[in-house]
Amino acid sequence: MAGGAGDTKKVLDMDTGSQKVLNMDTLNPCIINMEYSVRGPLVIRAREMQKELKEGKKFPFPYVIRCNIGDCHAMEQSYINFIRQVVASCTYPPLMDSAGFPPDVVAKAKRILEGCGGGSIGAYSDSSGIEIIRKDAAAYIKRRDGGIPANPDTIMLSSGASDGIKSILKLLKQGDGERKTGVMIPIPQYPLYSATLAEYNTMQIGYYLDEETNWSMHVSELKRAITEARAVCNPRAICVLNPGNPTGSVLTRQNIEDIVKFAHDEKLVILADEVYQDNIYAPDREFHSFKKVISEMGGEYAKQELASFHSVSKGYMGECGYRGGYCEYVNFHPEVVAMLRKSLTAKLCPSVSGQVAMDCVVGHPQPGDASYESWLKEKNAVLGTLKEKAKMTVEKLNSLPGIKCNIVQGAMYAFPRLFLPEKAIAKAKAEGKAADFMYAWELLEQKGLCVVPGSGFGQKEGTYHFRMTILPPPAKLEEFLRRLKDFHLEFMERYK
Ligand SMILES: Cc1ncc(COP(=O)(O)O)c(C=O)c1O
Repeated sequence: MAGGAGDTKKVLDMDTGSQKVLNMDTLNPCIINMEYSVRGPLVIRAREMQKELKEGKKFPFPYVIRCNIGDCHAMEQSYINFIRQVVASCTYPPLMDSAGFPPDVVAKAKRILEGCGGGSIGAYSDSSGIEIIRKDAAAYIKRRDGGIPANPDTIMLSSGASDGIKSILKLLKQGDGERKTGVMIPIPQYPLYSATLAEYNTMQIGYYLDEETNWSMHVSELKRAITEARAVCNPRAICVLNPGNPTGSVLTRQNIEDIVKFAHDEKLVILADEVYQDNIYAPDREFHSFKKVISEMGGEYAKQELASFHSVSKGYMGECGYRGGYCEYVNFHPEVVAMLRKSLTAKLCPSVSGQVAMDCVVGHPQPGDASYESWLKEKNAVLGTLKEKAKMTVEKLNSLPGIKCNIVQGAMYAFPRLFLPEKAIAKAKAEGKAADFMYAWELLEQKGLCVVPGSGFGQKEGTYHFRMTILPPPAKLEEFLRRLKDFHLEFMERYK
């Protein structure tokens, strides 16, 4: 560092946080309050261990297996050629002449580029996204929902579903004290919701999913939660994750109708997180979109305010890094739509590469297109493997004493319950830790397996869980389950 009194003073200031304009006393308290467990301290430690292993430090395992986050490609899931070819063509147009890509890839890329400013994906797009992609999304929704129309003008493209979810949650924030907005979220839930509500200083109203009945949702519990919440806030929305994260459950059509009736009676906006709509594995389950259900219920229910989210990060695509997604919002007041559009303009536009990737999902190849057969084969291979891994994971987990795991009906996660010995719970308590955090920490240190403790998602008081993804390739997932078995049996024995 350069010398001189000025520099020394600067270093002293740098080293004493309290002399900063921005320090822990002046920082936005909402940022201090927010937590995002899927990237918490265990993940930081896992990264450190991976680095140490690379540097030659010895551990009782050859590598770390990370099952903490739904990041498909990071876990070696292969990409879909059609998506990459279209994105590559849009990114570097000479490839369309030289790479020998199929004609439907070239046609799609040209069509997208025509919709871009200056014919380049390097240009900003409309704040709601490129018009032809919004039209493709509307056509996709119509096909998916058996012909129920969708309007491209009430679809916004987003940088991942997260961005769309945050844009809608932002609209809801209002009031203080008892008038403060409350938003209903499931427990357990994907921590984007709790983190965003904390960031926006909006009240979380937790409603418990029923573990005994494969994490189904009971209206009686929704009523309990909202009745208690009305004493302290103003409930204005309900978030539903279907298929669920971390639960892996898929709602029945009846369950969805019950939620719609509840939301209608209680005057709530529905936020339907449907990013796992392609990830259904249980033979007795299918995906029903909220949009389709409200339309088919008809009458007043068809006027229900609803925002539904989709993403390129999940499904068979797993393209988390592109940050592509969309939100279809229906039955919103026209003036609110205008305000939403205004708020989007301040963000300029969602990632354009992400929009292109999203177009490959909503405008995927159709029978007769040059890429159709290979696209279908690749898609079925990814989803078929996920289905097998879902089954294997649950079977192996349930073969262990002290673990009970519900069927993974969909999504990409298992959320087993741990029945931990009293001694383990007491030790964790004495150390000021949640017992499942202690379990997950020891699992990482001793076996190199990274999972997220249930306390990061919310769970019934006195119950313990962890969430693991089913994403590693089959052989690695089997190795994960073998290492877990050894650890678990030893842990239960040690604390029995
Ligand atoms: C239920 C749910 N919603 C939203 C997201 C965020 O997805 P994206 O990458 O599209 O922002 C995730 C990511 O894991 C998720 O599990």
